Amino acid sequence: MKSYRIATFGCQMNVHDSDRMHEVMQGAGFSEVEAEEGADVIILNTCSVREKAEQKLRSELGKLRQGKAGHPGRVLVVAGCVAQQEGEKLLSRGLGVDLVIGPDNIRELPLLLHDLASGGLPTVRTVFDLDAPQFLTSYGAPSAPSPSERPSAVSTFVTTMKGCNERCTFCIVPTTRGPERYRPSDEILAEVRGLAERGTREVTLLGQTVNSYTDPLGCMEKPSGADPDESEFAALLRAVSKEAPSLRLRYTSPHPRHLTPSLIAAHAELPGLCRHVHLPVQSGSDRVLKRMLRRYTRAEFEARVAALKAAMKSQDGTPGVTLSTDIIVGFPGETDEDFEQTLSLIEAVGFVGVFAFKYSERPFTPALKLKNDVSEEEKSRRLARLFALSEGLTAKHLSTLVGSELEVLIEGRAKKPQAGAEATFSGRSFRNEIVHLQDDRGEQLVGEVVRVRVERSFKHSVLASLTPEAVAQAGRSAPKERGARRLPMLSAAD
Ligand code: SAH
Ligand code: F3S
Repeated sequence: MKSYRIATFGCQMNVHDSDRMHEVMQGAGFSEVEAEEGADVIILNTCSVREKAEQKLRSELGKLRQGKAGHPGRVLVVAGCVAQQEGEKLLSRGLGVDLVIGPDNIRELPLLLHDLASGGLPTVRTVFDLDAPQFLTSYGAPSAPSPSERPSAVSTFVTTMKGCNERCTFCIVPTTRGPERYRPSDEILAEVRGLAERGTREVTLLGQTVNSYTDPLGCMEKPSGADPDESEFAALLRAVSKEAPSLRLRYTSPHPRHLTPSLIAAHAELPGLCRHVHLPVQSGSDRVLKRMLRRYTRAEFEARVAALKAAMKSQDGTPGVTLSTDIIVGFPGETDEDFEQTLSLIEAVGFVGVFAFKYSERPFTPALKLKNDVSEEEKSRRLARLFALSEGLTAKHLSTLVGSELEVLIEGRAKKPQAGAEATFSGRSFRNEIVHLQDDRGEQLVGEVVRVRVERSFKHSVLASLTPEAVAQAGRSAPKERGARRLPMLSAAD
């Protein structure tokens, strides 16, 4: 049996695509190996959102080309966004690449590998499936093991749309992922139902602008009203919650302009919908937002966030919803004053997680016409100030949780001990706080939603233990069968 290995770079979309590649490869009879040395096929699933990510690929390819000398017949595949962006160029550069495959062509991988093995020439296959978009699921590979034979993940992604119709001037995604295509709602609901039946406890709906959703079947309703940014996403969330009420539900990444009254209402209404939104804002300055073509002003962003917070007040005085964001520093023309406005927005909203990046020039993007005039040193300075502020906000938020109770979905064993405290398991709360648990109940806790009391806070997480009620509940339950639920779900409200 031929062996393969996949190395994944970049965002959650790529992680999800790599999972699908595993299924397609295993369905075609390939077996996964951990070590590169033993692999007959090496697939690099690449990211090109910033130049640094692309540089990583170049150095990886250099290493692999050298390694290829000792492995005649090894096939090197470049997949993902760099594949889509560079196409033929990747074959012509003497990089030792045999196959270049775009994000929409994953299903064709076994066939293309077969052609190569039968003496075919290196190939590029980067065609968007515009006419008949396909959305690979865990049931997607024709001869993959049947769902019942595979273990369920506690938390998993479900694609609802792909591509992006926005034209943010810095962003290469519309080029690498193509225009927006939406998945029919019946397919989404069927996948969600299947996952819930197999024991998955949390689903994250995934898309580049996930909340612009429109059902190609016309089964979801767009709320009537004046707001031009309303989509059918709120109806989709309601339908998913109805289909699988025991699931915890998240989505990523929304565009702020579609954080509309109906989506806010869905947050207030659906107990399984998490109380956390990752809402990329990019900048706090209207001047910069305009040059980025983000299609909202700072005031509009703040108003929508305020409406969300108002709709989700909690009863114990802790925040009813938490927000995280993406920021770009040093966008062309960003002045000190613009940057100060970004800092003030981060503080005003009280983001508890900030993913910040130095602006990086990307091919095919409109911002290339603007002068990249903020020096690298200045970008580094701004990034450091921003991180200092956001780390402080996160730590402060987590410290306010000490003594409060949370509901946590236990996702697995804790990766590393926290300063002096031996945590055994970790998971996330409805507000997406990372919670480490000190408990010796063992694997039976994994995949359960349990109520905990927060004892200590760290920089990025908290340490907690089960409440006496949760301990009593755990004691009463029968030992867990593989895949079976043990502790009953607690009510969703924090
Ligand atoms: N809507 C997508 C955005 C993908 S890009 C999603 O979140 O799913 C992820 C983030 O990378 C963006 O929010 C932006 O903050 C950052 N980014 C994109 N292009 C960039 C560039 N040219 N330079 C620096 N950061 C960039
Ligand atoms: Fe990129 Fe803007 Fe779309 S950040 S993915 S063009 S919403």
